[in-house]
Amino acid sequence: MSYQIKKAAVIGSGVMGSGIAAHLANSGIATYLLDIVPSEVQPADAAKGWTKETPAFRSSIAAGALQKLLKQKPAPLTAKKNLALITPGNLEDDLEKLSEVDWVIEVIVENLEVKQQLFARIDNVVKAETIVTSNTSGISIEAMLDGRSESFKTHFLGTHFFNPPRYLKLLEVIPASTTKPEVVEFMKSFGEDVLGKGVVLAKDTPNFIANRIGTYGLLVTLREMQKRGFSVGEVDSVTGPVIGRPKSATFRTLDVVGLDTFLHVAKNVYDQTSGEEQEVFNPPAFLKQMVENKWLGAKSGQGFFVKKDKEIFELN
Ligand code: NAI
Repeated sequence: MSYQIKKAAVIGSGVMGSGIAAHLANSGIATYLLDIVPSEVQPADAAKGWTKETPAFRSSIAAGALQKLLKQKPAPLTAKKNLALITPGNLEDDLEKLSEVDWVIEVIVENLEVKQQLFARIDNVVKAETIVTSNTSGISIEAMLDGRSESFKTHFLGTHFFNPPRYLKLLEVIPASTTKPEVVEFMKSFGEDVLGKGVVLAKDTPNFIANRIGTYGLLVTLREMQKRGFSVGEVDSVTGPVIGRPKSATFRTLDVVGLDTFLHVAKNVYDQTSGEEQEVFNPPAFLKQMVENKWLGAKSGQGFFVKKDKEIFELN
């Protein structure tokens, strides 16, 4: 069987999902961008006459994410007109649309059970030859397949993009033990030839390759900083442009990634290791506190660097 991707669906329109949808549109691929239906009608929505049944309200999370793509810097879209290739929607009303697409990419919260529930729904709708992938930062690909159909299992793998998806070249491709070799081969060439990525095949180990090393490095840096009394500004100033990184240094990277996502990713290795190795992946208390405060980084407007990078968060 030869595969091709003309139409895709990205599920989850947050930091990564919206950026991946933009990157697919940049490559000329018509893409659905689906998210959940918001739980509450906010006063600003009610002022527009929206109720829980209004279609624009029901798809407003993904539609809002599309509008943000036009304002983000660096620009996720190569041209504003590419936005027309992305159709926003919601998983309750638009699930059937997945039967039209050649590739579904899951980009929702980093939680195995929530992802498994979504895959069960996707399995009921997609064509047997549709490729389904997860953008997980490091959860076991094999574990996501529990209870899935045979065709789902042979067409499923991890495709781990990096943030921001238009600009970072690395794409980790992680096959499950059941993934058909042709599907892996197709995804590798598609990633390189159509999406312009540098594809690295990774084994299905906790956090794969890049995040296993990257999370380790970030956590060691945070711990040393606390121990030695370095400031956030000091650490960022020596891990940014002075060592050849264009902008994003330690804390700016965490703000861009999202502190909640970073905690999930660290916990994923923590839960699957033991002893001395495990301790490194135990995130510092101040990071957990920041997430409890809803200081999630750029996506919530407050992280280590407050809006527009004007103020710097300090530990003491
Ligand atoms: P995010 O928190 O920005 O966005 C998650 C989106 O998923 C939200 O729009 C939310 O409404 C939606 N969502 C939550 N539950 C859902 C459900 N049951 N069904 C459908 N949609 C649901 O998260 P982010 O950062 O975009 O991460 C998404 C995935 O990508 C995670 O698996 C994460 O580990 C991975 N990832 C994140 C990177 C980053 O730099 N933030 C980099 C690479 C991978």
